Amino acid sequence: MFDLVVTGGTVISAERESKMDVGITDGTIRALAAPDTLEGTETVDADGHLVLPGFIDAHVHAKLSIGEHTTVDEFSDLTRAAAFAGSTTIFPFAIPGPAETPLQAHRRRLRSAEENAYVDYGFHGCITNADGSSADTVAKLAERGVRSIKGFMVYGDRLRLDDGELRDVMEAVTDEGGVMLVHAENDAIITRLVERQVARDSTEYSVHPDTHPPVTETIAMWTVFELVAETGCPTIIVHASTEGTQQIVEAAEERGLPLLVETCPHYLCLTDSRYHSENGEQYVCSPPLRSEEHQQALWEMLVDGSINFVNSDHCGYTTEQKRRNRDDVTRIPNGLPGIETCNVLLFSEGVVKGQLSRERFVELVATNPAKILGLYPRKGAITVGADADLVIIDPAHTWSLEDEELHMASDYTPFDGMEVTGVPKTVLVRGEPVISDRSLIGTPSVGEYVCELTDRDVPDIGIE
Ligand code: URP
Ligand code: ZN
Ligand code: ZN
Repeated sequence: MFDLVVTGGTVISAERESKMDVGITDGTIRALAAPDTLEGTETVDADGHLVLPGFIDAHVHAKLSIGEHTTVDEFSDLTRAAAFAGSTTIFPFAIPGPAETPLQAHRRRLRSAEENAYVDYGFHGCITNADGSSADTVAKLAERGVRSIKGFMVYGDRLRLDDGELRDVMEAVTDEGGVMLVHAENDAIITRLVERQVARDSTEYSVHPDTHPPVTETIAMWTVFELVAETGCPTIIVHASTEGTQQIVEAAEERGLPLLVETCPHYLCLTDSRYHSENGEQYVCSPPLRSEEHQQALWEMLVDGSINFVNSDHCGYTTEQKRRNRDDVTRIPNGLPGIETCNVLLFSEGVVKGQLSRERFVELVATNPAKILGLYPRKGAITVGADADLVIIDPAHTWSLEDEELHMASDYTPFDGMEVTGVPKTVLVRGEPVISDRSLIGTPSVGEYVCELTDRDVPDIGIE
């Protein structure tokens, strides 16, 4: 007799799907068996539904402060919204505030998460100032189990690493057996283009994409490519938005480089026409939304395996924060709320519309992030011995994304009014129901900190 049995659902993994019962005891999957063969003290009826490994959102911003703005979600808001999305683990960045070290930033984030987490969580470290101490800092973060490190090539002196600094950090991350995440945009060109707009007194939100043209991203990606070749550092280029990504992935494959790529739902589902809409400032993010041609190329890369991850890049500001400086792109906070809409958009636009198989979906949002973060197969898999992090999806339910029905702290969603098909109905975190029949029943003490302590096997994912 198990504590809990999920019965009658179609279990989907990155490799296969089949109808199975899942037997859970003490938060761990103990058995997978033919339908209606397992008995539990409790049961969840998943007949007609899909049973997927809990999703891992590995690109989330929590209390990010740049300039005059700070994102609005508390940790409990983030993890509650994640639970509704079927994300049973999230990895925000421990980005240092002004005058804070990466280690202090990590400690502060850990404190903010205690008893405030509806789902499991870890934190990426972040180096914003390679002042010669980066090797030591990366080593100290690794001692705490933090081996995924973010570096920004943009955002002024507060966050930006120049190429030399980035190289130092990548060397250190390689030495610690870690993985680097890079925001790849060319700061010098962006700065010149912004200055040009300032000189013309033309700085409203609609110029944002003109100041971040695709070439700024492609050049930076090639820089990262060369640094990966030189340092051997396993690296994820985050939030890729351009078709130029394809050539970089092909070149990396040819040379066997551990270069991986993430994209986000806003690049897959929205285009730069939004910058010409009313409230266009609500879509300001970096890189910016692109044209349909770029969007189509991203979908092709998702299908053919060139892109390895889809994460939200959740960065929640309010409409007021976005609106306040809508006439000055240098001051509009960059980033879009999306932790709650990420998976459902990919499922609906990708799987339901026939572009992605269900197995590929699982790979993108659960299995690959678990592997790169050293959590696989404890997470990202439905297998005996794995954490019972499960998402039970009603694949036929069509609903509409509406601001007021979502649970993020931002008061808007960039996807407002979009109709989507597929909804996470029940979500288990280590066997504990957090969402049941679309209602929150978990508490903020369910979530646990997950360290990245196992070896990761980069060549296994996406780089065959
Ligand atoms: O515009 C974005 N993406 N804001 C969030 C911070 C980042 O660059 O990931
Ligand atoms: Zn970024
Ligand atoms: Zn981000």
